Amino acid sequence: MKRDFLGFDGFNRSELEEILHLAARLKRDLKDGQLPPLLSGKSVVLIFEKPSLRTRVTFEVGVSQLGGTAVYLTPNDIQLGQRESVADIARNLERWVDLIMARTFAHTTLTELARHAGVPVINGLSDRSHPCQVLADCFTLIEKRGRLDGLRVAFIGDANNVANSWIEAAGVFPFEFVLACPPGYEPESAVLAAARASRARVEVTHDALAAARAADVLYTDVWTSMGQEEETERRRRDFAAYQINTRLLRHANPDAVVMHCLPAHRGEEITDEVIEGSQSIVFDQAENRLHTQKAIMAWLNDRMKKHR
Ligand code: CP
Ligand code: NVA
Repeated sequence: MKRDFLGFDGFNRSELEEILHLAARLKRDLKDGQLPPLLSGKSVVLIFEKPSLRTRVTFEVGVSQLGGTAVYLTPNDIQLGQRESVADIARNLERWVDLIMARTFAHTTLTELARHAGVPVINGLSDRSHPCQVLADCFTLIEKRGRLDGLRVAFIGDANNVANSWIEAAGVFPFEFVLACPPGYEPESAVLAAARASRARVEVTHDALAAARAADVLYTDVWTSMGQEEETERRRRDFAAYQINTRLLRHANPDAVVMHCLPAHRGEEITDEVIEGSQSIVFDQAENRLHTQKAIMAWLNDRMKKHR
């Protein structure tokens, strides 16, 4: 049976650990100048409804390093659901390619693609979640801190797609996740309920200092996500007290790391001083997108082989 990677739900801990181990191996291989051809002869289509630097480059380079071919499609190329239905696009693509990666507005576009395509679909960010980012972040934390278990991850800012993936991840890995957001910007209750049903340790507060206290990780993301641009001014006002700065960092553990999925708006959700400071690991996160996504693609492709 084919597997999709649309979120952490549907994956158990041992499967995600397999992917993380494979990512570590692929990272070592690359440093050693070895490129195992795990996607040799395979084609991957990369569909983007929104802009991207990291996701596009890491998937395109990742496919090529594994011996496959990537085809990049911009919003204008296919006009998902406008020029042609999402279902029909999926039924065309499955005849030509072995994997589909898509960055979409509506999360239902991804579930539609996954339902109608007989090949694995990977979520490259939707309005609901960004699991490739958070899996790469988990990998980065294991690398930097040796473990995920028992860490206190404080997310300061918007309960957006990245935060939702952290909440989902907390349902699989035993770390503590606390989100500090302004009133009115809390996670959807369904997202919290699903995580709590899997016994995730998730807390939501409006107090950024309380969230940061004794944190091992301070994480943030833009206040205004792609697609919300008309709310930018209001969000700048509402989120003003939810910035990672030197004062907030002092409340975290002395060896805390600072993370941001990027792109960053310096002076808004994070200060220049903190993102450039010695505790910041943002470019390690960006690098690890490459290794983790290669592992996701190879793992999903391997599952297809086993069930063919
Ligand atoms: N973090 C991330 O997904 O970056 P891009 O939007 O540049 O892909
Ligand atoms: N929350 C951000 C993440 C960008 C990688 C957005 O959706 O724009």
